[in-house]
Amino acid sequence: MYNSKTEEDRKQYHWYQNAQNTFWKSPIWEVDLGYDEAWNEALLEEIYDIGRNITLGIDASPSNSIWDYAHKYPHLQEIKDKIIEVVTMTITKEIPEIRMLNIKGCEHFMGWINVREPGESLEVHGHTESAIAATYYVKAKEGCGDIVLFDTAGAIDFERNQLSGSPYVRARRFKPVEGRLIFFPNYILHGVDPNMSDDLRISLTTDIRKVVDPNASNTVILKTWAGRMSKIKEWKPEDVSKN
Ligand SMILES: [Fe+2]
Repeated sequence: MYNSKTEEDRKQYHWYQNAQNTFWKSPIWEVDLGYDEAWNEALLEEIYDIGRNITLGIDASPSNSIWDYAHKYPHLQEIKDKIIEVVTMTITKEIPEIRMLNIKGCEHFMGWINVREPGESLEVHGHTESAIAATYYVKAKEGCGDIVLFDTAGAIDFERNQLSGSPYVRARRFKPVEGRLIFFPNYILHGVDPNMSDDLRISLTTDIRKVVDPNASNTVILKTWAGRMSKIKEWKPEDVSKN
């Protein structure tokens, strides 16, 4: 954390900050999926049904992911497919390097529903299990709580296990809009402001992983390192001179 004691310190700090040219580096995408209020209401009916069946014990062995129920609920199935379509199309179009990585596409790893009552917020967190974190806003009234994303450079004070207050941390707020999908790399820490509306704030969040083609010649999987692993016993000092 920067601690400016004197005016000179502050000047130096500003020079240093400018020299570093710190700015937001992480991509964040927002895409309106085109679903209207009636469609979202129908999705909420399905989500309610899943939740009620679990709480009443009708669903005796609940799945870990909301996506495991998609085959029984048409709106859930539609948005499951739509999210993958939009995320795959967007990242392969905007990050051309992905085409060289043998990524066949994306898949949902786990999905869940966030329901926040008025006054509730969501603490800062990351999505460590995924490549892309995506959130779709099913119900988001005015003032229901922006999502706040933090640039990771110096964001965490690991000694105190809290946000550092570092001047290098950049926070960006995005207003939730019903029918909109926001997605970003998994490493971006984020939280949600308190819900100041008089209604529930409901979002559907999913962790998305990349699907790699294991048969492509340049895919980095265990066999990529097999030759080097063999050197553990087969390498000889005289091999160096041959190179
Ligand atoms: Fe999150």
